[in-house]
Amino acid sequence: MKRSVYCGDVGESSVGQEVTVCGWVHSRRDHGGVIFIDLRDREGILQIVFQPESREVFKTAQGLRSEYVILVKGLVRYRPDGTINPNISTGKVELVTNNLEVLNTSLGLPFEISNYNGASEELRLKYRYLDLRRPNFQKNFIMRHKISREIRNFLNKEGFLEIETPFLTKSTPEGARDFLVPSRLQHGDFFALPQSPQLFKQILMVAGFDKYYQIAKCFRDEDSRSDRQLEFTQVDIEMSFVDEKDIMDIVERMLAGVFKDLLNLEIEIPFERISYADAMLRYGSDKPDTRFEVEIIDFTQKFKNVEFSVFSSAILNGKIVRGLCIPKGANFSKAEIDRLTKFVGDYGAKGLAWMKITDIGAESNIVKYFKENEIEMIISNFNAKAGDLVVFLADNENVVIQGLGALRLKVGRECNLIDKNKFNFLWIVDFPLMEWDEEECRWQAFHHPFTAPKYLQEDTFTKENVNKAKARAYDIVLNGLELGGGSIRIHKSDIQKNIFDVLSISEESAKEKFNFLLEALSYGAPPHGGLALGFDRLCALILGEESIREVIAFPKTQKGVDPLASAPSRVSNRQLKELGLRVIL
Ligand code: AMO
Ligand code: AMP
Repeated sequence: MKRSVYCGDVGESSVGQEVTVCGWVHSRRDHGGVIFIDLRDREGILQIVFQPESREVFKTAQGLRSEYVILVKGLVRYRPDGTINPNISTGKVELVTNNLEVLNTSLGLPFEISNYNGASEELRLKYRYLDLRRPNFQKNFIMRHKISREIRNFLNKEGFLEIETPFLTKSTPEGARDFLVPSRLQHGDFFALPQSPQLFKQILMVAGFDKYYQIAKCFRDEDSRSDRQLEFTQVDIEMSFVDEKDIMDIVERMLAGVFKDLLNLEIEIPFERISYADAMLRYGSDKPDTRFEVEIIDFTQKFKNVEFSVFSSAILNGKIVRGLCIPKGANFSKAEIDRLTKFVGDYGAKGLAWMKITDIGAESNIVKYFKENEIEMIISNFNAKAGDLVVFLADNENVVIQGLGALRLKVGRECNLIDKNKFNFLWIVDFPLMEWDEEECRWQAFHHPFTAPKYLQEDTFTKENVNKAKARAYDIVLNGLELGGGSIRIHKSDIQKNIFDVLSISEESAKEKFNFLLEALSYGAPPHGGLALGFDRLCALILGEESIREVIAFPKTQKGVDPLASAPSRVSNRQLKELGLRVIL
């Protein structure tokens, strides 16, 4: 090793010692007779001082430019009084040297490492190796490494086996679009990259491995967003002879351990459990952010007979009315309320009814349609205070849930109601087993078709009674983001067949798609279940990053391209011919 210590690790305990450090020139300041270099490596930044005693070294130091790679050997000393930098870990010390080796030079940079604000995302990704040199990124990836190490250590200790599953495989049932890979040996046939290891991990249970995990790459051809990438990583888990609470317990202890060891935060376990129906009612979302207390309240029964016909006639027509109370929202101007009305309009709402709560009741354009006791009822249901703003939507269930759910988050953010220091974990449970697909006029699995049904387990499902069936599925939510999901699986072929019947998946089509799993289930499959956590999302949440791109070394852009490697790209005719393919554009 050329270095004796990382720049970022040089501290007061090194004072008086001779050390060798290597790294990149972060910045250079010429102060007349003295040159200061901020030298950067992955652990931090150290101030290097060149004094003019050795003219040759001094001259070389004058020629140093941003991102030159250098090695310096020198003496660590305290910085003079008044020059201490409290913003960096090495801020009390500096390295004085007359010993400099330039290991490499650098071209002029396409953007500043220390100030990249002006650079487009495209440019930053094209020069990702420069972007990644930023101290914040170095910190993120060191943390990502520690999180995966913690998770591995925990699962290893719990007796899980890490087993890899194939990338070149058949379509998996997670419901996104597949990435396809043409086969050279079987022209016209394609592999699909796995959307998750779902089918294989179930087969590993049939094979008797009992407890499996994998930090697995998954591939889904869907539109990229701040929390979605074409390829992403799951912490994938499966266990045999378990029920829901065993899986939830493992995941809770694993996450509590990560937060304790890496952030020194006590996360209370078990996490709160909320039914899907309750989450949709109270938060208008299946991934509620519970870091603030605003909750949606249903008024459908209570507003049946009010004079305000926007509500009463909507209810008469089978619609619903729900509302929420915005703390201190009464100071919203007319223009601000119009902006909120427009916002819910994007979700299909035809208006937004509102009342400002005052010391003596309520004020708004519609208060005149409400009796005094109705206003009192509204105030007491919301437990509203003078100065709050209550708002209502009357519409079909979808519009009301989505509109109010989104509005709740918007006011939570805009009114600073969200406590950014909180980590609120939740389990969402009691999902419906299936949902009705209006377009295709058939039932669709709410999760995937291997999810075990609840309660009615011994009964036979039909297209008529399945609407009541709940799934043995659970999602884990952290601060309003779906962090993971899983379920107990169907392990008996007759139940699986019954579910396929209700889903109108013919025996032939089931066989074609999932035959290997179905067959495996008939050779003594143990009861089993599991879960997958979005690992990128977990890292982003722990690091307080808005986008998972900040914790993925080489992400794709929003348009799904990799500007660094210039992928995807055209291939040669020879390659196409070998694959038996022709491009038609
Ligand atoms: P699911 O499809 O819910 O479940 O995925 C599990 C978790 O993976 C993360 N995730 C993503 N992260 C980044 N980019 C994406 N495109 C993306 N898609 C999903 C989410 C999600 O909660 N096989 C089942 C798990 C099981 O049942 O065991 C599965 O894949 O955080
Ligand atoms: P109008 O009777 O159209 O003047 O509406 C009176 C108030 O009710 C306005 O503040 C509208 O924004 C609001 N409003 C109209 N339609 C709805 C609806 N479907 N849900 C909630 N409020 C509505």
